[in-house]
Amino acid sequence: MRNFEYINPTKILFGEGQIENLSKEIPMDATVLILYGGGSIKTNGVYDQVKSALQNHKVFEFQGIPANPEYEVLLEALNLIKTNSIDYLLAVGGGSVIDGTKFLAAAAKYENDPWDLVSLRIRTTAQDALPFATVLTLPATGSEMNSGYVISRRATAEKLSSSGPGLFPAVSILDPTVIKSLPKKQIANGIADAYTHVLEQYLTYPTDAKLQDRFSEGILLTLQEVAPKVLNGPFDYTNASDFMWACTMALNGLIAKGVPTDWSVHGIGHELTAQFGIDHARTLAIIAPAHYRHTFENKKEKLAHYATRVWNITEGSIEEKAQLGIERLEAFFHSLDIKTKLSEYTEAYEDAGSTIEKTFIKRGWLQQGEHKDITPAVARAIVEASF
Ligand code: NZQ
Ligand code: ZN
Repeated sequence: MRNFEYINPTKILFGEGQIENLSKEIPMDATVLILYGGGSIKTNGVYDQVKSALQNHKVFEFQGIPANPEYEVLLEALNLIKTNSIDYLLAVGGGSVIDGTKFLAAAAKYENDPWDLVSLRIRTTAQDALPFATVLTLPATGSEMNSGYVISRRATAEKLSSSGPGLFPAVSILDPTVIKSLPKKQIANGIADAYTHVLEQYLTYPTDAKLQDRFSEGILLTLQEVAPKVLNGPFDYTNASDFMWACTMALNGLIAKGVPTDWSVHGIGHELTAQFGIDHARTLAIIAPAHYRHTFENKKEKLAHYATRVWNITEGSIEEKAQLGIERLEAFFHSLDIKTKLSEYTEAYEDAGSTIEKTFIKRGWLQQGEHKDITPAVARAIVEASF
């Protein structure tokens, strides 16, 4: 294994009924801004639980952070933070609300143009950020236990990420019962997103990091096992718990330690959301199979390892196993009712590859992937292979 440093300061309160503990976790003298999305929390009881927990705190609210948190909307929240001397944020929602809150935690203390935070990828330290907590309502991104965030700006068709050690949530509430109200489409997105997070930190090349591999495979197998149950079955607390915790563990930093990582499926996928508004998870299902076919020579050993460990494919050559691994992966996305071709989402796909190539060149993103061989031209070829 490679040398590594691992710090994850987020306190997790897992389980049914944990929302009420916000009353103890958020300092009594804080002026709190509760941030949420389009209103799902108002109809599923989460909002009432949060308000009840914070009945003795001084609270303000901001409703309306959309999926793919929009910069212009976040600026309205930033104004509210500044005019009311807010000093603690509480995100109640999925990855979009949590990411928007992380951006605001940083922007509240940033003196210059807030867009710099993502366009210049400024790393935010604890001194540079407001403290914040989260109540997760959608298992998917892992944002509830990591320090990364992704912000969209429709006017310029950009979707950019940033991070920093000051942007771990102080505390995150993970109550698996919140998934009861999730539409099937969002559950499928959550599974596909978390699954791909593991692949980005696992499907590189063999390093014989046995425990890291088995952590990753454990998360993949858990997601595969619970997927049909959480998608189609009646609500079941045990399955919901496994689903939620697997998604958190997929991107809280642990499985990436000591091993190479890729992240170019996400790099390319974010551009498809920026161009076409396709849900984040679905962009990954479009790009991952095309990517692994395109980078087959470099990834085939780990793909074969994946096929054997995760799909029990024990017969055949490395190439045959690796090929079957990609087929099983694509079939898994299909089992979630997620399509894996760009042309199944938009008719305007023809220039998608060349647009991404130009964008990556403009940004200087010339060498993505674990071998730094995902050049803008390769990214274009991968996108074109996904048509
Ligand atoms: O806005 P509301 O009304 O709450 O509805 C939301 C939204 O429409 C709904 N929803 C959430 N919880 C619900 C619910 N509906 C019913 N019941 C509930 N319990 O779900 C919709 C989608 O929510 P969103 O937060 O956008 O989804 P997700 O958690 O998948 O987040 C996606 C965003 O996270 C970013 C993505 O790029 C995208 O912008 N990511 C963040 C990462 C990170 N910070 O580490 C990593 C990821 O790779 C990803 O890039
Ligand atoms: Zn993701």
